[in-house]
Amino acid sequence: MAIDFHDEKNKMTYASRKANASWSEDLESLLPPGKHFVRAVDLGCGGGIYSKALVDAGVESVVGVDFSKAMLHGAKTNCEEYDTISFQLGSAFETALQDETFDLVLARALIHHLDDLHLFFAEAHRILEKDGYFIVQDRTPEDVLLPGSEEHIRGYFFEKFIKLKTAETERRHRGPEVRKALEETGFTLVKEVPFWEVRGTYPSKNLLKEELRHRIGRSILYELDDSELDELIDYIDNKVTQERNIVEKDRWTVWIAQKK
Ligand SMILES: C[S@@+](CC[C@H](N)C(=O)[O-])C[C@H]1O[C@@H](n2cnc3c(N)ncnc32)[C@H](O)[C@@H]1O
Repeated sequence: MAIDFHDEKNKMTYASRKANASWSEDLESLLPPGKHFVRAVDLGCGGGIYSKALVDAGVESVVGVDFSKAMLHGAKTNCEEYDTISFQLGSAFETALQDETFDLVLARALIHHLDDLHLFFAEAHRILEKDGYFIVQDRTPEDVLLPGSEEHIRGYFFEKFIKLKTAETERRHRGPEVRKALEETGFTLVKEVPFWEVRGTYPSKNLLKEELRHRIGRSILYELDDSELDELIDYIDNKVTQERNIVEKDRWTVWIAQKK
């Protein structure tokens, strides 16, 4: 059963982790040197993990938008020490934000939840100022299907459970589809790049196994029941030979587009 974003009991699912500092550094290296953002929107912000990361990276203010009251409750708790972040209930297709008001829109791990990319991209285009940047981060089917390794732990999920592979590849948009929708909604594609994001660092393998058991933001693992989750953890235990200092990285694609 897939995660229900609207269930209060899931409110901290996307609020408890902290983005690794390398996330914003790596994104920054894809933008023009010295680029400074004043007003950003984090669309489908979940628990505000990346709203915080944007502010930590120097963005002056961020509005987090999500269609789930439960997620926004978690986000408000997570970001209570950040007075330049505000949150607003809204749909990715109709944010109710004003026209041409923001110089950056981020959509991280959102588009695989959306059927209509054109409608969403048109909304992002509407709220961006001219020359504003739109950053989309998500996995393509190719990212998902990369094999497991000491670093790419997630690859083992799909090796072990074919049903996860099917569910995961079906919901992911392909690169050409994203590019086409960006171009057809008035964006200029600046870059489309594979992007490795550090998901977590674990001093020992036992801590990795423990984290997997209680994985926060584990939307695909919601498809497994408890005994299947045990099986998966045993499988990963056998595959990962490293006992200490494990760095887990997830593979994504980042599209950087500009409103012209
Ligand atoms: C996988 S989470 C990602 C959260 C956050 N961006 C991150 O990367 O940690 C997807 C988020 O998108 C939100 N979402 C899904 N469909 C949406 C829609 N149509 N409009 C607004 N938010 C949506 C969900 O409530 C959830 O918080």
